[in-house]
Amino acid sequence: MTGTTSGERATELRNQTVDALKDAGTIVSARVEAVMRAVPRETFAPEADLDAVYEPWNGLVTKRDENGRAVSSLSAPDAQAHMLEQARIEPGMTVLEIGSGGMNAAYLSEMVGPTGRVTTVDIDPFVTERTSRFLDQAGYPQVTVVLADAEHGVPQHAPYDRILVTVGAWDVPPAWIDQLVDGGLLVVPLKVMGLMRTVALVREGDRLVSESARLFGFVPMQGVGAHDSTELALREGAVRLVFDEQAPADLSRLEGVLEYEPLVVDSGAGLRLGEPWATMQMWLATTVPGFCRILVDRAANEASPRPLGGLHTGMAAVDGANLAYVASRKLGGQELTLEVHAYGPAPAALAELVAEQLRVWDRDHRGGPGPQYLVYPATTPDERLPAADFAVAKRHSRVLLSWPRPANTVGSDVLHHPNHQ
Ligand SMILES: C[S@@+](CC[C@H](N)C(=O)[O-])C[C@H]1O[C@@H](n2cnc3c(N)ncnc32)[C@H](O)[C@@H]1O
Repeated sequence: MTGTTSGERATELRNQTVDALKDAGTIVSARVEAVMRAVPRETFAPEADLDAVYEPWNGLVTKRDENGRAVSSLSAPDAQAHMLEQARIEPGMTVLEIGSGGMNAAYLSEMVGPTGRVTTVDIDPFVTERTSRFLDQAGYPQVTVVLADAEHGVPQHAPYDRILVTVGAWDVPPAWIDQLVDGGLLVVPLKVMGLMRTVALVREGDRLVSESARLFGFVPMQGVGAHDSTELALREGAVRLVFDEQAPADLSRLEGVLEYEPLVVDSGAGLRLGEPWATMQMWLATTVPGFCRILVDRAANEASPRPLGGLHTGMAAVDGANLAYVASRKLGGQELTLEVHAYGPAPAALAELVAEQLRVWDRDHRGGPGPQYLVYPATTPDERLPAADFAVAKRHSRVLLSWPRPANTVGSDVLHHPNHQ
């Protein structure tokens, strides 16, 4: 733009981003709006193009590993704004950020003000060096930058009123609960059954209770808390099944499963183009045994003589030697229908189970808030755990999920005890 300096252009883009996030309902508080209008995002990604820095919905990768996978990034403004809203930061608070970069720490520093304290920790010296440098340049030298594996928190500055985890976690290590004040908030992108949701959890004694959860992608945790999923490659890797937990013991029974003729069942459940489906994924993950994610290489699939049909949703389930995945099919206008494509020697029962759960989601949970999360230390005796719809045992914690009761069934449902899942 003629006559516009890069500083003016950055301010203009920053305001456009904040306006877009307000319109989308992500920014709701005056405090988050004010800091996101004030802090110059470009200081924390000097090598990137200004338009990319201010793209509201995408993060910027700042480091990749030897296999090309992103290991550090400047999180998307959308994700940062949402986490800041979830964290309800007040002036004077003591805050720990896990996963550094500088940008989010600068927002936090603005929000806690001169009487508060922000510590940010990262496992990677490349990241901590940049973070310190950028924070100094942007005028936030008061933020403490620590190089460590955050699996153990940062005990030297604890306790914290808030802990914001800005890296994808599979578990909640004891340090994150122990270093939080009672009533304090942990905001963490937590994976359950392979599905990551950024969950705001309040500490109540030794347990955590969720206030809200929303789908965002984050780079995975490294170090002691890193977690490997179990994968089965089909059709020479063109199709992969990914189990984050509760993988069946004998996956070899599924080899060759895609060579059967598919059975296609229209569930009757619907979806509109652009409609969020995070609760549908989580509903299937918590109600269909054998749930897994399915990753399909589009080019290899299209080149296959027997391509998998439908628009893929990434959700599947296995039962013995049978496999079923969920696909959508366009109806008219904005409407889609959800189909189940099932393969194997006897796929009908699995196909019907998945279809039935899609219908239950459509009837009872579509557009709803999704499940509440409870997190307990793994050492909690069974008799202290409340009833829940679904439970998963992690290394350090037990995560329990409970769905809101649909209006017409309040009090009539039998809850499953977590240990039976
Ligand atoms: C998405 S980036 C953080 C973004 C940053 N908060 C910002 O302001 O945009 C995630 C970071 O988590 C770090 N990380 C991964 N595993 C970690 C661990 N165990 N302890 C501390 N940091 C870790 C990575 O090195 C990476 O820099």
